[in-house]
Amino acid sequence: MNNNKLKKSLAKFVRATHGFLTAPMAIFFLTYSPKVHPGYGMTWPRRIALGFRFWLNNARVTSGTSWRAHLVIAMKLLEIPPETPGDVVECGCWKGGASVNISLVCKLIGRRMKIYDSFEGLPPPVEGDVIAEKTFKKGFIPGIFGGTLEEVQDNIRRYGAYDVCSFHQGWFENTTPHHEGDICLMFIDVDFYSSLHDVLINLWPHVVDGGFVFLDEYLNLPYCAVFYSEKYWDKYFKCAPPGLVGAGTGVQVGMHYTDPTIRFQPTQMQGPDSISYCIKGQYALWDFYPDEKEEAGAAEG
Ligand SMILES: C[S@@+](CC[C@H](N)C(=O)[O-])C[C@H]1O[C@@H](n2cnc3c(N)ncnc32)[C@H](O)[C@@H]1O
Repeated sequence: MNNNKLKKSLAKFVRATHGFLTAPMAIFFLTYSPKVHPGYGMTWPRRIALGFRFWLNNARVTSGTSWRAHLVIAMKLLEIPPETPGDVVECGCWKGGASVNISLVCKLIGRRMKIYDSFEGLPPPVEGDVIAEKTFKKGFIPGIFGGTLEEVQDNIRRYGAYDVCSFHQGWFENTTPHHEGDICLMFIDVDFYSSLHDVLINLWPHVVDGGFVFLDEYLNLPYCAVFYSEKYWDKYFKCAPPGLVGAGTGVQVGMHYTDPTIRFQPTQMQGPDSISYCIKGQYALWDFYPDEKEEAGAAEG
C-alpha cells in the first residue's frame, strides 16, 4: 500500500471512530431545543430515539450528507408550529439517504414530503456553470450521483416513511415550475450552479414567511454567495438577500473543531458533516455607507 493510500485509510478509520465515539453526545446536544412545539409530543426519550434511528439509517443507506445534518433539519421542522402551512421539499436525493430520515420526521409532524430529482444523476454542464464544468473536466460524466426512482423508493419503504412522500422525476428546469402549494422547509443538495438557480427561481416563491431553506454546499463560498448577492435577489425577487447561516463552515454539529482527521487530509481542512440554512423573511443586507452620506450632505450644502 502506498503512502497516500495508507493516509486515506487511516483518515477513514480515525474519522469513523471519532464519529462513533462522539455520536451519543451529539445526539443529546443536537436534539436539545426548548423551541420544539409541545404539540408534537417529543419527549427526551423520543428525541434520543430519533437521533439513534437517523444514525443507524445513515449507515444503512448511501448518503451524501450526514445524520447530524439530517438531525439539524429535523429539529427545525419540530420547531415549526403545526398551524404553519407547507410541505417539506427535498431537491437532490441521490439514493435517498437524507430522504429516509427527513420522511420520518414528516410523518411525526403530519407533513407531506415532495422529492425532486432526475433519478439519473447530475445533468450535463450548462455553459458558464463553473462547478459543472470543473466536475466534467475531472473526468466525470453526466449521471454521477445517480440513484434510480426504484432504488430511492425502496430505501424509503424500508427505512423511512413512504406514505408521506411523493416523487417528482425530471430535470429541475422542467419539474419545479409545476410545483404546487406552500413549502415550510426545503433542503437543497444539487451541486451545480444551474441546478441551484432552477430550484431557487421556481421554488423560493413557494416558501412561506419564516420557512427554512437548507443548503448542503456550505463549504463552497462562491456557491453560498448567491444567498448574499444583492444583485441576484433584487433581479429575481425584488428583495434583499436572505444570507446563509453556516456559510463556509456549516452549523456546529460537534465535528468541525474536533475532527482529528484534519491531520490526514491536507486538501480538506476539516470534515464538519454539517449543513447551512436561511430563513425566509430574514435579510443580510449591508446598509452603512457613511461616506455616501457625507457626499450627499456636501452636494446639498
Ligand atoms: C449530491 S446528490 C444529493 C445527495 C443527497 N442529498 C444525500 O444526502 O445523499 C445531488 C443530486 O442532485 C440531483 N440533481 C442535480 N442537478 C439536478 C437537476 N438539474 N435536475 C434534477 N436532478 C438534479 C442529482 O440527480 C443527485 O441525485
